[in-house]
Amino acid sequence: MLAIIGGSGVYNPSMLEKVKEIKVETPYGMITPLVGEYQGRDVVFLPRHGAKHTVPPHRINYQANLWGLRSMGVERIISTTAVGSLNPQMKPGDFVIIDQFLDFTKNRRSTFFEGGELGVVHVDYTEPYCPELRRVLLEAGRGMEVNLHDRGVYVCTEGPRFETPAEITMFSRLGGDLVGMTNVPEVVLAREVGICYATVSMVTNFAAGISAGPLSHEEVLEIMRENTDHLRTLLMKSLETIPVERACECKNAVQGGERLFSK
Ligand code: HPA
Repeated sequence: MLAIIGGSGVYNPSMLEKVKEIKVETPYGMITPLVGEYQGRDVVFLPRHGAKHTVPPHRINYQANLWGLRSMGVERIISTTAVGSLNPQMKPGDFVIIDQFLDFTKNRRSTFFEGGELGVVHVDYTEPYCPELRRVLLEAGRGMEVNLHDRGVYVCTEGPRFETPAEITMFSRLGGDLVGMTNVPEVVLAREVGICYATVSMVTNFAAGISAGPLSHEEVLEIMRENTDHLRTLLMKSLETIPVERACECKNAVQGGERLFSK
């Protein structure tokens, strides 16, 4: 099964048919994703900040989200994120299929493996995002009237505040291209439970100190609104072309990872 995790500005799975909300219990709390169909395939939609954007990035229950999706049988996730840009080539309105992250979060539960019976686990993140899903997204974006970048380093901050210009200068020197508040631990937990995960980041603004004036959440949402149609088209084209069987290695990221679910 496929899932879309919608970020800021993406709350509504308008491409899906027969949509219904379901409740999924997890050891971390309940989630209430929407389940529908797209061209005969089951697709789950989960708005990361809640249906009415009420949950800030540092309060999102990432563990419940990923555990819940995995327990529903989700094997692949495409997520969307709004991002600020540190890279002059990546401009507001551009899409970036990110390929690496830098983790500057501070206070999040970012693993399912807490030792004890489950053992001590160190997962490889050489390729954090699923290469097969990234290829699907890139191919879907070709031929569309959007600027699509085939790589990008996502810096994840704790938020919910925006960054200072000094922080942005630091991130830029460290090799960051984009800054956002949600991709970590989402990508990390997805890999721990063997789900393929890829992200479409949409640039909504140049980051603090690069942008001409102060930043606002309204500005972010406004650019997202202007580009929603492009994002929906990209997601639909991707859903149409995802191969039925997985040919990547994401499901084997943790040796014997199924034991998480057999407790
Ligand atoms: N910083 C952090 N997160 C963001 C930004 C930003 O400038 N724009 C959209 N999400």
